[in-house]
Amino acid sequence: MQRFEGKVAVVTGAASGIGRATVTRLVEEGAQVVAVDVQPVEASERVRPIGGDVTDPALAEQVVAAAVDSYGRLDVLVAVAGILRTARTHEHPLDVWQKVLDVNLTGTYTFCRAAIPAMLDVGGGAIVTTGSTAALAGHPWAAAYSASKGGVLALTKTIAVEYARDGIRANCVCPGSIDTPITGDFVFPEGVDARLVKRLMALDKPRGPETVAATIAFLASADAEHVNGESVRVDGGTLA
Ligand SMILES: NC(=O)c1ccc[n+]([C@@H]2O[C@H](COP(=O)([O-])OP(=O)(O)OC[C@H]3O[C@@H](n4cnc5c(N)ncnc54)[C@H](O)[C@@H]3O)[C@@H](O)[C@H]2O)c1
Repeated sequence: MQRFEGKVAVVTGAASGIGRATVTRLVEEGAQVVAVDVQPVEASERVRPIGGDVTDPALAEQVVAAAVDSYGRLDVLVAVAGILRTARTHEHPLDVWQKVLDVNLTGTYTFCRAAIPAMLDVGGGAIVTTGSTAALAGHPWAAAYSASKGGVLALTKTIAVEYARDGIRANCVCPGSIDTPITGDFVFPEGVDARLVKRLMALDKPRGPETVAATIAFLASADAEHVNGESVRVDGGTLA
């Protein structure tokens, strides 16, 4: 499949896990990708890395300008960069709460905000944001993370409705139990009943990030031309 031949994409969180797998998938299907992360991303013929922190409000504008300057257009934004911090809700340090919201929610918003005008210039585009099963069901000891992902889902639906007539679609992929480095950040607070998190575990087995990348590629492609404002779980049936 070459669904992204002639298309230009920006992917955040591109150095690891789901973001990295998404870059690979989009490139395999013909895209030029501007790949953003705080960690290094390897450059290639079709991948232009830009180092930066999505909490820097100027970064998104720089990245979109670089995509348009280098390749003449922007068709796809995949906002993947995210962090997870755990604590009992009543013990969540405020600075941690703020940091999680800054990266996951505001970092997604600034990239959407910068990408939309460039997409309007070419008559439309596709935005895929990264939620979580935590956006859809209670996720103990992840108050900030869950709130940020719920916010990402609401933001996505807002964009979907607001820009539908301009040819921009926005959908939210909601992974669960994907085997990536972020899962190591799920630290159970001392003394809690770990069984409470069981309903968020995959029913089959944890899968790799490629399976989420495949869904993201579908949502970003013309195959999903009539899919807009949707949240798509990639969780092995956990919340079915
Ligand atoms: N793995 C799962 O089971 C799972 C489940 C639900 C949602 N998600 C979401 O998927 C997304 C990707 O996570 P992953 O599983 O691939 O984990 P990951 O840790 O492998 O990838 C996250 C990437 O985001 C980057 N990043 C973090 N903060 C950043 C910042 N401030 N600026 C720029 N880049 C930053 C990291 O460097 C890393 O490359 C996250 O938004 C996460 O919340 C993952």
